[in-house]
Amino acid sequence: MKALITGGAGFIGRWVVKYLLKKGNEVWALDNLSNGERNNILEFEENPRFKFIKGDILQRDLLKELFNLNFEVCFHLAAAINVQSSIDNPGENLEVNLRGTFNILEEAKKRNTKVIFISTCMVYKQAIDNIPIDEDHSLCPLSPYAATKIAAENLALSYFHTYGLPITILRPFNTYGPFQKTNNEGGVIPIFILRSLKGEILNIYGKGTQTRDFLYVEDCAEAIVKAALSDKIWGEVINIGTGKDISINDLARLIAGDSRRIKHIPHIHPQSEIPKLVCNYSKARKLLNWGPRTSLREGINRTREWIREQKALVLSG
Ligand SMILES: NC(=O)c1ccc[n+]([C@@H]2O[C@H](COP(=O)([O-])OP(=O)(O)OC[C@H]3O[C@@H](n4cnc5c(N)ncnc54)[C@H](O)[C@@H]3O)[C@@H](O)[C@H]2O)c1
Repeated sequence: MKALITGGAGFIGRWVVKYLLKKGNEVWALDNLSNGERNNILEFEENPRFKFIKGDILQRDLLKELFNLNFEVCFHLAAAINVQSSIDNPGENLEVNLRGTFNILEEAKKRNTKVIFISTCMVYKQAIDNIPIDEDHSLCPLSPYAATKIAAENLALSYFHTYGLPITILRPFNTYGPFQKTNNEGGVIPIFILRSLKGEILNIYGKGTQTRDFLYVEDCAEAIVKAALSDKIWGEVINIGTGKDISINDLARLIAGDSRRIKHIPHIHPQSEIPKLVCNYSKARKLLNWGPRTSLREGINRTREWIREQKALVLSG
């Protein structure tokens, strides 16, 4: 297929690009590089089936021109993803996550292009009594980031109901792996791994009892691509995760290997922290024939190896 990936130079986007290219597809990645990096897609640049466009989903003229290329599917991943920034500057989140999604939907509507919209597990209210969260679980916008994702999901679904646009919404749980940032903009797993490799203390915000369901990024990318291959799931919302959660305290112990190297510090935004997130992915199993393949231990090892290589490159360069 001929696919457009918004946010294609980002962490998850570059793995979706990789998966699609491996399967012989033609891939166009659009990214304004606000959080993505050219480095993330360097390995594809020689591939004649890959094109990178530096541009913004807020540029309507650029999108018009791009969609003239007649893509079969648009994987829409571009978003402002930082929860803290969404609290400090909700306006930017609103523009990129909602207006940007509107722009994509408008162009897709003209040609009936399939859209796979990547939402997030952050739209949910916490899991209760250890029961994994399915797609009917209550939603709760604990941050402007979550609110704009809920709004964008609803907008996308309205294009399905109103115009019959083929749209599927995926809600990945916390995703981690190689190419995720190791600084404060990144995810907790690469941040912990880098600090532990440097022999530094691992800082945990709050009590560390909050739990997350960590999904390895290549498994996430596989589910995203599979969603475009089925013609029976339009208008559906589908969770992707592992069905197992771990507290941030246990995660830190697993990565540091020593609880004396862990410190608890006051939370920056406790009101926006979801106490427990664990995924019921049975709908993904049924509709996409998808399930996670990579254990947390294996995923952490692969991420650690990648971070080690990056550090070695920096030191040798
Ligand atoms: N990482 C996770 O744990 C996770 C979990 C659930 C859902 N998601 C969703 O997956 C998607 C990808 O997230 P990620 O973790 O890879 O983040 P990321 O920041 O690495 O990727 C997003 C990409 O979008 C680009 N972008 C931002 N604004 C843009 C704009 N206006 N125009 C064009 N490009 C723009 C950024 O430069 C970046 O490369 C996001 O929609 C995010 O909400 C991520």
